[in-house]
Parts: sequence; C-alpha cells; structure tokens
Amino acid sequence: MKKIEHIGIAVKDLDASEKLYTKLLGVEPYKREEVEAQKVMTSFLRLGPNKIELLAATSEDSVIHKYLEKKGEGMHHIAFAVTDIRAEMARLQAEGFRLLQEEPSAGADNKLVCFLHPKGTAGVLVELVQDN
Ligand code: CO
Repeated sequence: MKKIEHIGIAVKDLDASEKLYTKLLGVEPYKREEVEAQKVMTSFLRLGPNKIELLAATSEDSVIHKYLEKKGEGMHHIAFAVTDIRAEMARLQAEGFRLLQEEPSAGADNKLVCFLHPKGTAGVLVELVQDN
C-alpha cells in the first residue's frame, strides 16, 4: 500500500460539517459527489497529500444511516491508496483478511474501491482505493 489516501467521517448534516471542517482545517471542500451504490453524499477536503471525506446518508437504508444510528457521528474508515487493487485484494485474502466484496466497485472521486471487514483489522473499516 502506498499511503493514507483519505479518512472517512460519518456525519449527519453535510452542510454543517463542511462548514465545521473548513473552519477546522482552513480549506474549503473541493467537491461533492454522490455514490449511488452506497447511498451516500460525499464531500472532499484536501489536506497536503491526504483527504478528508465527509459522508452523509442519502437514504434511510444507507450504510451510513445505519452507522449513525448505531454509533453516532465520527471516524468511519481509513482508505489506503494501492496501485493494483485486484492484486492487493488477492494478497490480503491470502493473508487471511476478510474482504466485504469479491470485486472492486466504483467509489467516489473516480476510484475503484474495496472494503475489508473491520473484525479482521482491529475494529477499523479499511478501504482500498485505486485510481481508475
Ligand atoms: Co472512502
């Protein structure tokens, strides 16, 4: 893996959280993008080589809606940049990690993504991202 690509933060109110993170980090979000497959609206702020991804649910059956109900707002996942997502998925599976998907899917920011089960990663939801 190359670096931390972004950190995902689950939020209830995207407008309010954009304002909060703009104040906190001193940078404005550079884009919003809906990920229909996961029923989330994302907003990205760039900070040096990394990004912060704010995630809000667009529907009550969104994974983020369920997460917010259970745990409230907070850090949701860490995304690591990889060069070859399929090779990395095969490597991790061989190492005994549980992948939440068999094939990479289309994520925000024009990336191919794959999530790992947090039970196998010390409670942290890990996302692999490859530039598409
Ligand atoms: Co993400």
